[in-house]
Amino acid sequence: MSSAPMGAAITGGTTAAREHVMTVRDAHKTYEGRGVPVHALRGVDLDIDTGSFTCLIGPSGHGKSTLLHLLGGLDRPSSGSVTVLGEHIERMSDAQLARFRAHRIGFVFQFFNLLKGLTVAENVQLAMSFAGASAREQRSRTDELLASVGLSAKRDARANELSGGQMQRVAIARALANDPEVLLLDEPTGNLDSASESEVLGILDGLHAEGRTIVMVTHSLEIAARAERIVEVHDGRVLA
Ligand SMILES: Nc1ncnc2c1ncn2[C@@H]1O[C@H](COP(=O)(O)OP(=O)(O)OP(=O)(O)O)[C@@H](O)[C@H]1O
Ligand SMILES: [Mg+2]
Repeated sequence: MSSAPMGAAITGGTTAAREHVMTVRDAHKTYEGRGVPVHALRGVDLDIDTGSFTCLIGPSGHGKSTLLHLLGGLDRPSSGSVTVLGEHIERMSDAQLARFRAHRIGFVFQFFNLLKGLTVAENVQLAMSFAGASAREQRSRTDELLASVGLSAKRDARANELSGGQMQRVAIARALANDPEVLLLDEPTGNLDSASESEVLGILDGLHAEGRTIVMVTHSLEIAARAERIVEVHDGRVLA
């Protein structure tokens, strides 16, 4: 199961960001539900090493997506600290978080979140335009990314004309649009057949080999076994 990173900064503190691309300290997340607060995370401590490939596993509703959202700056903790690439997520404004995400984080959502009326290429380019790339850069990088996920032929198809596996690969291409150091994926193979699943996993292995840090939520122990490290999220906590 999850192992304490060897030789890492033991006390957290300001040096942690150098060896760990992400550091979570006593993070709590409470959703103000209808009258009854939901304690989705109850004191999470976690370090993710630069360049590592980690899988988050655990039962449904126990906080995996919530934790991944904090790591990606999609949300802030209610208390505690989350440091990603040296930036304190909990101290950033919404606008700062949006800019940070656009430039430095790739996020693949469980249900793809593609804009269905746009073409494959437009979905990928949109992520680049948020980060301020020129139209020319957008075109050449989009072609490169679509080739790398095997979808050049679908460049001008609308997203709603794709199969699930193809949508998932577009979502990965989009997550890579701005060449992020960190790639976060929420059950990227949850809806795929085994052939599409192995294609996606092959792409992830390649990205890991390039030195990117990957954190992926999965329900599949078989998939988790391919990762360098498995972190179990249980009842809003990370099991040591
Ligand atoms: N936006 C929200 N508002 C209120 N409660 C929420 C919200 N998002 C999540 N929760 C609650 O927080 C808890 C943790 O949810 P989370 O989505 O992190 O679980 P999960 O481990 O990803 O589950 P699954 O495996 O089913 O995707 C659940 O009880 C859920 O109902
Ligand atoms: Mg989830």
